[in-house]
Formats: sequence, C-alpha cells, structure tokens
Amino acid sequence: MSEVVRKPAEFRRACEDARAVQQRVGLVPTMGALHDGHFSLIDEAKSRADFIALTIFVNPLQFAPGEDLERYPRTFESDLAACRQRGVDLVFAPELSSMYPEHFQTEVSVKEIVRPLEGEFRPTHFDGVTTVVAKLFNLTGPCTAMFGRKDYQQWKALCRMAEDLDMPIELVGCPIIRERDGLALSSRNRYLSAPDRERALGIVSGLRRAHDAWERGERESGALRALAEESVRPVFDRLDYVAAVDPETLTAAPPSPSRLLVAVAAHLGSTRLIDNVVLGEDPRP
Ligand code: PAJ
Repeated sequence: MSEVVRKPAEFRRACEDARAVQQRVGLVPTMGALHDGHFSLIDEAKSRADFIALTIFVNPLQFAPGEDLERYPRTFESDLAACRQRGVDLVFAPELSSMYPEHFQTEVSVKEIVRPLEGEFRPTHFDGVTTVVAKLFNLTGPCTAMFGRKDYQQWKALCRMAEDLDMPIELVGCPIIRERDGLALSSRNRYLSAPDRERALGIVSGLRRAHDAWERGERESGALRALAEESVRPVFDRLDYVAAVDPETLTAAPPSPSRLLVAVAAHLGSTRLIDNVVLGEDPRP
C-alpha cells in the first residue's frame, strides 16, 4: 500500500525512517500521467533498492511561458492506483506552495551540457529541472534515483549536477520504453490526434535509418544525421533539431566515433515530441 505525503518535511522523514532500518531508498521523480515508461523506472528501482519513493509534481519552473503547463495531463487518482499496484512504498505529491513558497529565490544551474539541443529551443527549461531535482534529492537524502534516457540531455545534466555538487545520489539512466510500433512513450502522446499519431512514426523511421546505416558501417555523423532528418522533416509541421553528437558532451562527435547520439525534437501541431538513440549502444528503436 503506497503511503501518500504532501509535505516536504513528511517526505524527508519517511525516507529517513526507511534508511534507519537499513533500507536502500530508490527514487523515481515524475510529473505524473504515468505510463509504461515510468513503470519501467519503478521496476528498475525495485531491482536496486528496498524502499521505493515516487514523486509527482508538475514543476512550473521547467515550463516556459506558452508551453503546455496548464494543459499538462494530471491523472492523480489513476497514477496512485498504478503506484499501489506496482509496489511503490511512498508517493510524494507536494503542493506548489510548499515547493516554492513566496520567498523562494534560489536556482541550481548546470552550464555547458544544457546549452545545445533542447537548450537552444527551451533555454530556461533545464534550470527548472535541475532546481526541482536538487530539491527532491535533498529531501530524499542518499538514494538511487531513476531517470529515463528518453530525456537523454536531462539525464546527463542531472548526472553532472549530482557529481559537481557532491550529492550522495546514484543516478541510473534507464532505456527508452516504446510502443509496439516504436513510438517512445510520453505523457504528451495523448495530445496527438489519430492521424498525427501515425505521422509521429516519422521520428522512429529517422532513428531506424540512422541505426541501420550505422550497422552497415557508416560512421560519418553528418551522413547519419542527414539520413534521420530525411525521414522526419517531411512529416512534421516543424523541426527543432536533428542532431548527431557525442553522447557525453552533446557537442560535435570525433571522426569515426564509437558511439553517437542521434536526437530529434519536432512538432506536430501544438505537440512537441523528442526521441533519440545512441548508436553503438542502443538496440534498433
Ligand atoms: P516526466 O516527463 O514525468 O518523466 C519522468 C521520468 O520518466 C523521466 O526520467 C523520463 O525520462 C522518464 N520517461 C518518460 N518517458 C519514458 C520512456 N518512454 N521510457 C523511459 N523513461 C521514460 O522528466 C520529468 O518528468 C521531469 O523533468 C522531472 C525529472 C520529474 C523533473 O520535474
């Protein structure tokens, strides 16, 4: 039975109580509207920790004006039922005012790694993510925290933050969970109309083309990027980026890399989708 707490101090106490009886704490931070991608993080947490804490908080700091903060799906009751069914021990669903009281004025900000890709199109996004996750890490205390590689740059930025600030947190980057046809699961997929849901597969085709070319021996990042872009550009209303970069720095890859991140962000109507594959590491999407 998952306990639900609303107050930061209660959450901190519950995590401390778990550690006091030698339980390892596994943390799964989310914004709710849970799906199989989130559930895979719960399962991974259960394989690594004894006490599973999942947080649900739609963090306004990481949404820019004009983004989908207001219409972001909120499905608390079914999220809670799913958490109970999957053996989450503690759900932390704080009120906005307890996370950001009126006097709040601190920001945690990572530098280089947040600038390319998402950072070019959502320049304030990662400051919001690192600030809220720093708060969640501080409330949780020492733990193993699960993140999806669906949000690859977010995962890398959070790893940098935790290492740079000596946070006692082990971060785990979990594989992308996809629908049967390859579309990466996302809380935002529910915005898509049936025809747009079909068009969204253009991203998957692009990543697959790059993956297939890599398997055939192509190692030129410009060529791999162009192959992916050819599938994405014609079907999406707007393309933010198709990039082929070094998976650690997210900047230009060396010639003949041993691994290469191909990442895409594109719009269908008012819905923005992101996806990626690490060539040389991930299976075919
Ligand atoms: P949210 O979008 O709810 O995602 C929570 C976690 O689930 C993230 O680590 C994300 O990468 C992971 N995830 C989402 N879809 C996935 C999929 N298809 N396969 C695997 N993992 C997937 O990301 C956030 O929330 C927020 O930015 C947060 C970290 C909670 C800070 O507010």
